[in-house]
Amino acid sequence: MTLLEAIAARHSVRKYKDLPLPQDVVENIQQKTETVNAESGLHIQLVTNEPKGFKGLLCYGTFKGVKNYLVIAGKKGQDLDEKVGYYGEQLVLLAQQLGLNTCWAALTYQKVKGAFTLNDDEKVICFIALGYGETQGSMRKHKRVEELSNATEDSPTWFRQGMEAARLAPTAINQQKFHIEYIDEGKNGKPRVKAERLFSFFGYTKMDLGIVKLHFEIGAGKENFEWIS
Ligand SMILES: Cc1cc2nc3c(=O)[nH]c(=O)nc-3n(C[C@H](O)[C@H](O)[C@H](O)COP(=O)(O)O)c2cc1C
Repeated sequence: MTLLEAIAARHSVRKYKDLPLPQDVVENIQQKTETVNAESGLHIQLVTNEPKGFKGLLCYGTFKGVKNYLVIAGKKGQDLDEKVGYYGEQLVLLAQQLGLNTCWAALTYQKVKGAFTLNDDEKVICFIALGYGETQGSMRKHKRVEELSNATEDSPTWFRQGMEAARLAPTAINQQKFHIEYIDEGKNGKPRVKAERLFSFFGYTKMDLGIVKLHFEIGAGKENFEWIS
């Protein structure tokens, strides 16, 4: 399964079968986690066979049977939330490629003592549930590319393909509070793209933006443009 296929197949799944993760799947996720941690400075940990992290929680989203999850922690800093989105989603898409289902959880989780470790100055930002879902989830309603960007029929194909991947990105409560703008070439001849978060009472727009930017890069091809802030 390619990353684009994983993007198309992924939906949040909150109910899981009572099946352990095979050893090779665990090793694959652990390896990617190490790569992502080394690149980002985040402290992401895979927790397996631990049933309490998602048990008995009565808020946004009802989870069932979650025994495996990623704990996403990192050092406090300005870009922490966007990094969490950008790198956490890399693990979500890998999990999808490995035949698993996932769900981001910024609210609906509890920290279980002894299940993971934190170094000085680190805090937990969110969890990502993973495992074999009872279903593959279902497609939410997404805004159109034109509502989420300045794309027109004349936009370059790579930009529209980036936007198609970006509009399928998971966002908290499916809020899709972001806007992506195509800007002409800069001095180095590369087209520029600007991604911004929009206001939301609910919050979590920085994490959402990190996820959206990863999806855009996968759809558009990183070599075709450069981000400007
Ligand atoms: C940053 C973030 C935080 C989220 N937090 C929760 C959560 O606490 N509980 C929950 O049930 N779903 C949570 N979700 C899942 C979203 O509700 C879900 O991604 C969104 O409704 C879109 O649906 P989809 O993932 O199936 O495309 C979160 C998603 C993101 C991106």
